[in-house]
Amino acid sequence: MRSEVGTTIRLSEYAPPSYLVSAVSLTFRLYPRRTIVKAALSVQLNLGTVPGTELVFDGDGIELLSLTLNGLPVDATTTPEELRIAGVPHEPFTLEIETAIDPEANLALSGLYRSNGVYCTQCEAEGFRRITYFPDRPDVLSVYTVRIEALSSEAPVLLSNGNPGEAGELPDGWHFAEWHDPWPKPSYLFALVAGDIVGAFDRFTTMSGREVELGVYVERGKESRTGWAIESLKRSMKWDEEVFGREYDLDVFNIVAVSDFNMGAMENKGLNIFNDKYILADFRTATDTDYANIETIIAHEYFHNWTGNRITCRDWFQLCLKEGLTVYRDHEFSADMRSRAVRRIAEVRTLKSAQFPEDGGPLAHPVRPTAYREINNFYTATVYEKGSEVIRMLRMVIGDSAFRVGMDRYFGRHDGDAATIEDFLACFEEASGRSLAQFALWYHQAGTPQITAETQYDKDNERLVLTLDQFVPPTPDQTDKKPMHIPIAFALFRPDGAHFSVSKQSDLVQDGIIHLTEQRSEVVFDGIDEQPVVSLLRGFSAPVTLDIGQPEADRIFLARHEDDLYTRWQALDRLATDTILASYRQSGGRELAGSADALIALYGEVACDEGQDAAWRALTLTLPGEATLGREAGLNVDPDAIHDAREALLSAIAESHASDFAEIYGALGTNEPYSPDALSAGRRALKLVLLDYLTVAEGGAARGKDLFDRADNMTEEAGALENLILRRPQSTEAKAARAAFEARHGDDPLVMDKLLGMIARVPGGDAPTRILEAMEHPNYVETNPNRVRALIASFAGANPSGFHRPDGSGYRILADVIARVAPQNPQLGARLATHFRSWKGLETTRRAAAYEVLQSLRNKPDLPLDVRDIIDRTLS
Ligand code: TRP
Ligand code: ZN
Repeated sequence: MRSEVGTTIRLSEYAPPSYLVSAVSLTFRLYPRRTIVKAALSVQLNLGTVPGTELVFDGDGIELLSLTLNGLPVDATTTPEELRIAGVPHEPFTLEIETAIDPEANLALSGLYRSNGVYCTQCEAEGFRRITYFPDRPDVLSVYTVRIEALSSEAPVLLSNGNPGEAGELPDGWHFAEWHDPWPKPSYLFALVAGDIVGAFDRFTTMSGREVELGVYVERGKESRTGWAIESLKRSMKWDEEVFGREYDLDVFNIVAVSDFNMGAMENKGLNIFNDKYILADFRTATDTDYANIETIIAHEYFHNWTGNRITCRDWFQLCLKEGLTVYRDHEFSADMRSRAVRRIAEVRTLKSAQFPEDGGPLAHPVRPTAYREINNFYTATVYEKGSEVIRMLRMVIGDSAFRVGMDRYFGRHDGDAATIEDFLACFEEASGRSLAQFALWYHQAGTPQITAETQYDKDNERLVLTLDQFVPPTPDQTDKKPMHIPIAFALFRPDGAHFSVSKQSDLVQDGIIHLTEQRSEVVFDGIDEQPVVSLLRGFSAPVTLDIGQPEADRIFLARHEDDLYTRWQALDRLATDTILASYRQSGGRELAGSADALIALYGEVACDEGQDAAWRALTLTLPGEATLGREAGLNVDPDAIHDAREALLSAIAESHASDFAEIYGALGTNEPYSPDALSAGRRALKLVLLDYLTVAEGGAARGKDLFDRADNMTEEAGALENLILRRPQSTEAKAARAAFEARHGDDPLVMDKLLGMIARVPGGDAPTRILEAMEHPNYVETNPNRVRALIASFAGANPSGFHRPDGSGYRILADVIARVAPQNPQLGARLATHFRSWKGLETTRRAAAYEVLQSLRNKPDLPLDVRDIIDRTLS
């Protein structure tokens, strides 16, 4: 076991490795309870290391069987956590290490483990050291050759990184396969899979004519659900060639889906390993959302081949170098595959619900952190999603063509390197010929910048003055912030919806963007001959909050006439948020505040606007989420009142448009067979949003039950069931539908997860009881992260009124699960613990209840470092 207190690792203390490993040869003899690993490492002093320096390699729970240096016994100090050799030769030498591991007992899902009988590995960030002693850090790059031996009946398929080599039979029903990866890589990209799995195959011809064999492997019986993954992979490969000029570089590309996995997927070189939730899809078992997630995650892992693998990170502080950039790339891919505006709305929703609360709470950290106790706790929305927003802004700041030149320079110059953010930014400084020193603050300063905007229009002088202030709030360990370079995309509209032309007004303004670089800036627009409507932060050009003193009429104008569809959504979303928060403040959510008539009318217009994409209408008709509303409400938040306030607006919209909505709903039926394309998915999404409104307006459960009974695809089947379970949990219709759903899909854990997720999201006071009951469901298994996330993370993260009970019952459920899960799977435990991060913003009763639960969790004796780190920071 690693130390429970842990030490703090600091970026400022980075030192290059003393020893390099140029080649690694691994032989695995696979036994469920006692796998034998033989590692032969070609080791040499790093340039600049003083000869005679002690060799120190990492381990984690290693059982050492034998150790030789150049074939001879060697004097070494070994513990399960470390290998130390004082006197190693000055010339390159070979270290041979034999270790034993128990994959079956590995429930941490890090290192070599078994998932449903399939041997698999997860080495990022520090899992390789659970396999053998190694300098387990991303700046040690080695060429790997792997030989796998296993019982043929237990593991007919044997996979590792790179290209396949020899394979054949061995005595006693065993067999072997060899793999060689010619591309030097850090240990975190090593992978091995062995098991009774089945592949679906295809081919891809790269831009230079190289033939690549593609394989998607799944557990036996699931082969019919691989088609969408393969389609998505081929489109990703083509897109990276066309948009970034990046070609694939091995003869094979394999993907394996496993059912026990801590995250979404992993980009191991030539052998991606996926959570099966993000591979398996057919119309009977996967929803449109599943299809979209699969498409984007396949792309993400594939794109890592260049941004992550060919160019990797020097150290884990540089994590955003690969993650932020790769998220940016998968966002662009999805935008090209689907509707750009619709994707942007989804991105911003995720950013606001996952990253903003992180940035505004005790777990806030810069996109490039400078210290950590447990690196697994830094695979965060800040590193991933805000990291992607930073790349997006970089492109906006230097322009499309300089961005492309900079990317090419980065790929060309750093191929084969373990690089830093400074290396990356230097490529764009050269490409654009400008300093990015201030822009780089986006990597270094935590916290969501707050922008305040004021406008003054002077009709006589035909002049508009826009005053912008920025404030970067203090965050843990960072009190004084410098002004940042914030690109604010904008437009000025005439009352008829035409744009004012505002080119060349000032240095601060270029191509529709105000470059805010000071704490306060005044931007003057001349020749504005009538009162304009100002639209700011178009396309969500920067991850900031914006407070603009603007007449309600202007906001409504933008919600109706903004010609950028993302920004039109943003305007309506802002109006809805303000109305809900006003209701919350004025009556604790019991009544809708003020005259919301104009807003309610807008929702009718959106629903009926046949000229717009159905997906856009569906998203726009979806009111802001309760967690986001709670965050915007500020301090002393009462989640029940937030829930009621949101419901008040929802009911008012439902009642005033019931007949229109029913008509549109009726017209959305189709007899065509299911297709996952964006257009059809949009129509189904719109149908389900309307179903929710209609259920509220009409009462009863008939409409939901009717859709459930007629549904011929999982999107509508699960959507209708969710409508029944969330809106009418006690109805006979809900019970009947649930029983039918379980009868149909009870043997499919991924589909049952959807049911657990619905139960977890039923709002209100009964939620904790319902969760305890659902924990008895046969599908709920606490060793499988998907099951725990479906029920517990959905409850804690997506059901504010149900989780935040004033009596603390919701918090106690979460703490109990963490206490059980964390000792076996620290990463999962730590993820769950982050759901306490916003406790300080709650009203006093809930705050006190959360504090008490957090304290008693902190006092648990066998809490792993991962969880301790999150709890300590949450309480600090
Ligand atoms: N690098 C992976 C990705 O973003 C995610 C990852 C990091 C991961 N650590 C992990 C996956 C641990 C599984 C387990 O694509
Ligand atoms: Zn990634």
